Amino acid sequence: MARERIVTASTLPEDEPSRSGQLTLRPRKLSDYIGQPELIEKLRISVQAAKTRNEAMEHVLLHGPPGLGKTTLAHIVASELNGSVPRITSGPALVRPTDLVSILTNLGRGDVLFIDEIHRIPAAVEEYLYPAMEDYCIDVMMGAGTHAQSMHMEIQPFTLIAATTRAGLLSGPMRSRFGIVHHLNFYSPEDLLRIVRRSAELLNLPAEEKSLLLLAHRARGTPRVVNRLLRRVRDFAVVRGQGQLTPAITQDALDLEAVDAMGLDDLDRRFMRVLARDYDGGPAGLEALSATMGEESDTLEDVVEPFLLQIGFLRRTPKGRQLTVAGFAHIHLKPPAQSSASQASTLFPTSEADRLR
Ligand code: ADE
Repeated sequence: MARERIVTASTLPEDEPSRSGQLTLRPRKLSDYIGQPELIEKLRISVQAAKTRNEAMEHVLLHGPPGLGKTTLAHIVASELNGSVPRITSGPALVRPTDLVSILTNLGRGDVLFIDEIHRIPAAVEEYLYPAMEDYCIDVMMGAGTHAQSMHMEIQPFTLIAATTRAGLLSGPMRSRFGIVHHLNFYSPEDLLRIVRRSAELLNLPAEEKSLLLLAHRARGTPRVVNRLLRRVRDFAVVRGQGQLTPAITQDALDLEAVDAMGLDDLDRRFMRVLARDYDGGPAGLEALSATMGEESDTLEDVVEPFLLQIGFLRRTPKGRQLTVAGFAHIHLKPPAQSSASQASTLFPTSEADRLR
């Protein structure tokens, strides 16, 4: 059986405490939110302004890799605006215009609608979203052919919070309808340390600072990953230790999960090895890599690649993906003499070569 991927950024039941019965580690207020200070400030101002004017808040588009807090922020904004929870759906779930219409017509005044993976919304549904976002109305087509009639419906003023891992796939008209457009960056180890310290406290888990520091450095810049690692190490500590997080217990648990010193797991390393060995370090196309590995190209593009790019192990060129010298070194392989990675390394240090590319 394949090992469950601990650094996956997808939402698992442990992130849905209301359903699984586990304590939520998500912050509930803007003031409890750690990291992304510019975004938090923009949201604080928008929430306050909307409440002062008694209007719906402007629409928000959040983009960036999964696990960085997009859903959490939708919950926080809904709660701060009117003490409600957001209505949650996703682009692929909105198959027909009627799917969207039924959601929109059921929204209350000032409610938050959260649409995840907005880049996957079908074009026919997207058209209905524009007048809804701009003028709080929808024009529904009833019947077909010569009997078709358009029916105009008003909806309650609402706030759309949309999330995407691929801002580049959004149409211009769609992007331009958001008042706040913000890219979520990976979190610094310092922010992740504060997040995991807070989580350990919420879980009543005695933890040495060094253990928390270790987790913060192995969480690939992602709050969801740091919290997931914390729960794993907590289980490990109960079974193999005295229930306390010590550096030794934490290290053993991370070894068991095959999370390495950079926070990479089996899938990341397999991706790098395939690129290194089967494609001589690249450039290689994403679809080719996906086919060789037998993994979804979306998973590779959304979950694996962003962090490898961030830490300088991977480069995206017009010709395809390329492993850098640092990437080769991490998996203990040498770039082939002909590869651009090795040529660049002989002329410049990696970062210099990247800048000149
Ligand atoms: N910022 C992002 N995720 C967070 C979390 N789970 N707790 C506190 N602050 C966060």
